[in-house]
Amino acid sequence: MIRLTAITRTFHMGDQTVYALNNINLHIASGEYVSIMGPSGSGKSTLLNIIGLLDKSDSGSYELDNRLISDLSETEQAQIRREKIGFVFQSFHLVSRLTAAENIELPLILGGIPATQRQIRVNEALQAFELKQRANHRPSELSGGQRQRVAIARATIMQPSVILADEPTGNLDHQIGAEVMLLLEKLHRSGTTLIVVTHDRELGARAHRQIAMRDGKILTDQSHDAD
Ligand SMILES: Nc1ncnc2c1ncn2[C@@H]1O[C@H](COP(=O)(O)OP(=O)(O)OP(=O)(O)O)[C@@H](O)[C@H]1O
Ligand SMILES: [Mg+2]
Repeated sequence: MIRLTAITRTFHMGDQTVYALNNINLHIASGEYVSIMGPSGSGKSTLLNIIGLLDKSDSGSYELDNRLISDLSETEQAQIRREKIGFVFQSFHLVSRLTAAENIELPLILGGIPATQRQIRVNEALQAFELKQRANHRPSELSGGQRQRVAIARATIMQPSVILADEPTGNLDHQIGAEVMLLLEKLHRSGTTLIVVTHDRELGARAHRQIAMRDGKILTDQSHDAD
């Protein structure tokens, strides 16, 4: 469960104040599939970063699974992020000097999982995301679709309850992008909350709930039944 109440995030540029988020109220239940659309600069990434505990609001409150996030220390927030949140980015954000397998292993190391367990889980993930043949390749030796599959494997290896994807198909051609969305949707069907920022109307329409943003505000919020 995600509950944002009166969330505002401003940036100061010289003597100008930009309201990246302007008094956002939003409730997302566990297991929902939500898309966020809106023009460039409307606050989509800022919203995702706050939900994913990568950024903090200036004011308002954020409750995640009945815990008030603002009451927690930095360390506690980092731990919740590692345990509950999986992030997928447009430009993949893989570590370039690590192999595919090592990138996927990273969250397990940070989570203190023993080496033998890590090997088992990394192998399962490589299998599940059809990356077995690419395990020892570095990101520069992978295609865009393969890189994003590594990124999704890494984002989900700790079995997060929430997946946040910021234009996950933005750097992929249409066909490969559609395959990446199918992978994310499969994770959603297994119970994960899925929140996807996209510029692609067709992809956005696949979500069961569509939020449109403009100027740091939620313009519309529409739900339709799961198919
Ligand atoms: N670190 C920052 N410093 C200053 N201004 C920022 C910063 N991050 C975001 N902004 C401003 O906040 C507003 C919202 O930015 P945000 O990145 O959330 O937009 P977006 O909807 O994700 O856009 P895009 O579709 O281009 O990714 C923009 O006006 C942007 O210039
Ligand atoms: Mg953005």
